Parts: sequence; structure tokens; C-alpha cells
Amino acid sequence: MNTQSTAPARSKLFRQITDRLGQSGKLVVLTGAGVSAESGIPTFRGDDGFWTMGSRNYRPEELATWSTFAADPELVWPWYLYRLGRCREALPNAGHHALVEMDKLLGDRFLLVTQNVDGLHRLAGSPDARTFHIHGDLERMRCGRDCTQRTWPVPDGLRTFQRGDSIEARDGEYLHCPDCGAVARPHVLWFDESYDETWFRFYSSMAAAKSADVLLIVGTSGATNLPTQMVALARQNGALIVELNLERSAFTAHAEDSGGGLLIGPAGDSLPALLDTLSAPPEAT
Ligand code: OAD
Repeated sequence: MNTQSTAPARSKLFRQITDRLGQSGKLVVLTGAGVSAESGIPTFRGDDGFWTMGSRNYRPEELATWSTFAADPELVWPWYLYRLGRCREALPNAGHHALVEMDKLLGDRFLLVTQNVDGLHRLAGSPDARTFHIHGDLERMRCGRDCTQRTWPVPDGLRTFQRGDSIEARDGEYLHCPDCGAVARPHVLWFDESYDETWFRFYSSMAAAKSADVLLIVGTSGATNLPTQMVALARQNGALIVELNLERSAFTAHAEDSGGGLLIGPAGDSLPALLDTLSAPPEAT
């Protein structure tokens, strides 16, 4: 089993990455909620999961759906606006910053695919051109009736929501599509919806997985569809797969089968350490 946590094991795994990348290899990084955990944003499936509201516990699959929103937008909106407020209070951590530096180092040999809707990769400086937000973006909304493909920023005038706040009359004006007047919706992918290219970069993400020489998976449990397909495709195409996580995930076996493995530890430590290895002159590695 290729599960590592010691410093020599870490060096060996990182050296495998640099060897595989060489001078022209492509690094694709897939991130999940774990990369933002050290910024204080709870993960989805951890003990402090994001989905408890007031005295009621909602499973993500219950609340984060089009059908729940269509039936009761005023149940779903406060939750997203509360999450937005919480994410706006958070700052990128050393892991986010290391990924920005990797982007600068590798240029178009680097691509970041994130499941996170918290905006911290962008805030750290990851460029939109090389960052796919495959589950959307809490900072944006779009027409709930799909009258247009455009998305727009959450309006400045909308107040910050606390846990348990309800929609009030004064909020309503901000939560409508400016084009057709229908109720606006958060620009996120819900459980009863499908990935697409326009909003969620489905085909581009699959193409990236196919072209990856190294797929680095950071802080995700591996429970969603597009990441699962990406990992399978990368594996099929012979990519080296390395995982950074606190524990094993649904992707660990793929990483091990690829000749890579899991490095156990917080992303805020592992990513800067990997950056150091990638930045070191070849003779020093
Ligand atoms: P999960 O909450 O399912 O998994 C978080 C992962 O991060 C777990 O494997 C943790 O072990 C790991 N982790 C926690 N802290 C970490 C740290 N400091 N360093 C490294 N790893 C750490 O979150 P995701 O896998 O991101 O989708 O969830 C995927 C999707 O499921 C979300 O984007 C969301 C959710 O439903 C949608 O909203 C569409």
C-alpha cells in the first residue's frame, strides 16, 4: 500500500511528480473542500458538515437540489447567503497560495479544477483562465428560469445573512433575474442537476484529465460524478495520480494503482512542500 506520511516518503512521492512532469509534462490539480478546511470553511462530509440549519439537519442531497429550490426558494436562498457570508470572512491559506505559485511556475502546463464554490482559489490569485469551477461559484447567481446563459455577481446591496435568517421583503429585489424578472438562483450545481460545458466545464475538465501527466487530488472525498470520471480517465491514460488528504478517499486506490499514492497530511503543509520541490533546480531535487 502506497500511503505515506513520513518526510522521506513525501520526498519520494514528490520526486516522482517532478520526474513525470519533466520539462513538458502537464499537471492537473483537482481540489475539494479539504483545501479550504484550514481557512475555517467546514467540509461537506466532516463532523462539522455544512448542512445543519437552525434546529433542522439537512442532508446535502435534500437541500441542494433544484426540486427543493423550485418548491421553496426562500428555504434554500438563506442557506446559500449564509454560506456566502461565511466564505467572504475566510482567507486563502498556504495551500491556495502554493497552487497560485504552481500556476505561475508551470503556466499552460498547469490546470486547476475545483469543486469548491467558496472563491478562495480566485482570491488567492489563481487565474480564471486556468481554473475550472465545476460546481459553480457562490459569488454569482443566474436566472432560475434559464432565460439567459449569463451569470451575474451577487448584488452589493444584499445584506449578510446569519445562520437561521429568513428572506425578508427588503431582500426580494436582489433575488430576481434582471432580464425576465423570474426568481434568481445561486450559480451552483445541485444534486439533481447535470454537469455541462457552458457553466461547469464538463468536457474541458475531461479533456484536461485525459491530457494530464500528473493528476494531483487534494482534499476531496471523491463522492461526485465529474471528479470520479476524471480520475478514471486519467488512470486509463497512464497519468501518475497523487493524493493529498488527511485520510483515504474513494480515489486512493486509483492513486496507488497508478504508481503514485496518498500523502497523509493537511493540504496547507503538503502543497507548499510540493511547490518547494517543483521550484528546486533539477540538480537539487
Ligand atoms: P468532502 O467534505 O466530501 O471531503 C473533504 C475531504 O477533505 C475529506 O476527504 C477530508 O479527509 C479532506 N480534508 C479535510 N481537511 C483537510 C486538510 N486540511 N487537508 C487535506 N485534506 C483535508 O468535500 P468534497 O469532496 O469537496 O458538491 O465534496 C465534493 C462535493 O460534494 C462538494 O463540492 C459539494 C458536495 O456535495 C456540490 O455542492 C455540487
